[in-house]
Amino acid sequence: MASVIGSVMMSHVPAIGRAIDRKLQDDPYWKPWFEGFPPVQRWLAAQRPDVAVIFYNDHGLNFFLDKMPTFAVGAAPEYRNADEGWGIPTVPPFAGHPKLSWHLIEALVANEFDVTTCQEMLVDHAVALPMAMLWPGQGDWPVRIVPVCVNTVQYPLPSMARCWKLGRAVGRALESFAENLRIVVMGTGGLSHQLDGTRAGFINREFDQLCLDKLVGDPEALTRYTTRELVELAGTQGVEVMMWLAARGALGGEVRKVHVNYHIPISNTAAGLMLLENRVAQRAAA
Ligand code: DHB
Ligand code: FE
Repeated sequence: MASVIGSVMMSHVPAIGRAIDRKLQDDPYWKPWFEGFPPVQRWLAAQRPDVAVIFYNDHGLNFFLDKMPTFAVGAAPEYRNADEGWGIPTVPPFAGHPKLSWHLIEALVANEFDVTTCQEMLVDHAVALPMAMLWPGQGDWPVRIVPVCVNTVQYPLPSMARCWKLGRAVGRALESFAENLRIVVMGTGGLSHQLDGTRAGFINREFDQLCLDKLVGDPEALTRYTTRELVELAGTQGVEVMMWLAARGALGGEVRKVHVNYHIPISNTAAGLMLLENRVAQRAAA
């Protein structure tokens, strides 16, 4: 059977793409961000996952305001990266895992998550940059991917509680896949940031720390925040912390915190990285 071995949650600020391109990893501005990664890269190299299931939010590349699914799951053989307007270099395409995608979709729909299915899907910086950070310098990605896109753009957004339940359902679905796959679940976005309006530049260290803390030992505590409260506490784009909660939901009850890094700011964002190892399979926890 497949197993979900852990979750990597991290920010996806577009400027990271430019920093990689210009090899600024040791630049004083960038060093606190890049030096957070080697422990996670080492864990991945040792654990050798076959597939990365990635909770992320599209920023207007694959979906636009005219058609905006709340939850969409990729079922493509390949996902190409394209630039939605930041002008950062694109990365090579990612191989998909259509069989796992369709298994996931069938299980989700059976569990009353009526997701949009995408047999073609472009992926933006929210997939490309986390992949480039976790597996740097590899033209050839060592994992296949299954993207799970959550709407953070067009209101109404799904609630934290709903994202938690989605994550739980995804975790159980993945672990009911009959092949012997090792799966890492990623959640990209956050932490607190606001790019627009009178609060542009807003960052909330206290709330971020609370999220980092609760995600480890008491993730359901985060389900009590309404979208409005989340915007107030995390900023308009800080709602992306939904991806972290969904990724946490895909793990069983008990996790081990392997690594965490938090740095303010990268661009306008409180940049976070966390790796949680799964301790209890969803099958047992369900
Ligand atoms: C920034 C952060 C994001 O999450 C994003 O999608 C785009 C820009 C930023 O801080 O610049
Ligand atoms: Fe974003």
